[in-house]
Amino acid sequence: MAFTEVKHPLIQDKLTRMRKSDTSSKDFKENLSEIASLMVYEITRDIPLKTIEVKTPITNTKGYTIETPVVIVPILRAGLGMTDGIQNLIPTARIAHVGMYRDETTLKPKQYYAKHPDNIENSFLIVVDPMLATGGSAIAAIDIVKQWGAKDIKFVCLVAAPEGVKALVQAHPDVDIFAASLDHHLNEKGYIVPGLGDAGDRIFGTK
Ligand code: URA
Repeated sequence: MAFTEVKHPLIQDKLTRMRKSDTSSKDFKENLSEIASLMVYEITRDIPLKTIEVKTPITNTKGYTIETPVVIVPILRAGLGMTDGIQNLIPTARIAHVGMYRDETTLKPKQYYAKHPDNIENSFLIVVDPMLATGGSAIAAIDIVKQWGAKDIKFVCLVAAPEGVKALVQAHPDVDIFAASLDHHLNEKGYIVPGLGDAGDRIFGTK
């Protein structure tokens, strides 16, 4: 549907800290979580509101409440790094998980794990993965959530490559995509340039 680069000085400052190769895993994780929280404001802009009556200490008045259940769907494992930051702002959000690995023969993403809460068809889904590179995992994960019955789906990443955005828009034109930065390109090894390296390794301190 639409691609949005969520630009804000706080996000740009934190993302720059994350890009630096000497940033510790602890700082990387904290900044990722904080950026995810800041992005929620934009991601949820069109979430439906219900009008309710409330009683203040002074009088009765009209107010608003979010009734649509929210489900965050981290793509394992790097997506976990954005989950807490989003749930901090939407504490009632439930979490589904999608695990995928790359089949070395077909080079296509294959699902190894998937679990979701009920009532997905009426929920607002936020599928998260910090890096939108080729788009392969994002497309496969969104195929899966659509099989569960999801209709209202947002895809949220930290850094996107133009190649990944193009592929995801083509495969799922009904899904809104949000990124903190649209980077330049993918290199021959599939890394986003300038990017920040392997997000999963940097979050979890692996190699
Ligand atoms: N996945 C990552 O973690 N980093 C990239 O640059 C591309 C894919």
